[in-house]
Amino acid sequence: MSIKWQDSWNIEVGEIDNQHRALVEQVSHLLEACKRGDSRQEVASVLNFLSQYVKEHFRYEEEQHRLYNYPDRDEHAKLHKNFTQEVKKLQERFENEGFSYQFTILLNRKLVDWLIDHIGRVDQKFGVFVKSGG
Ligand SMILES: [Fe+2]
Ligand SMILES: [Fe+2]
Repeated sequence: MSIKWQDSWNIEVGEIDNQHRALVEQVSHLLEACKRGDSRQEVASVLNFLSQYVKEHFRYEEEQHRLYNYPDRDEHAKLHKNFTQEVKKLQERFENEGFSYQFTILLNRKLVDWLIDHIGRVDQKFGVFVKSGG
């Protein structure tokens, strides 16, 4: 499974779309690195970069939620927090066990599926809220 940007994911609020696009790109890099069987160090460095980027993006998005007084912001922030923990677990698992077929499956399930659902569905609700006048 791979992840590809969909134009319908644009929500047109601040830098969110650009960041989402960059996130999707980083996840594709990660999947490609796994598929190519890149060295453990390279995969780890893409994974580390991604986890850092995710944190920065969530901070920015939550700041936008506050600025617009988005009513679902607490619930949304909880989803971000859970995901940040999942990514941390993936990093730890990779550090301990290295690359494996199971790890790729886990990446697809925990990272790719979550991001597609979150960017393509959950984050959309904020865009709809802002467009409807906040
Ligand atoms: Fe987002
Ligand atoms: Fe979000």
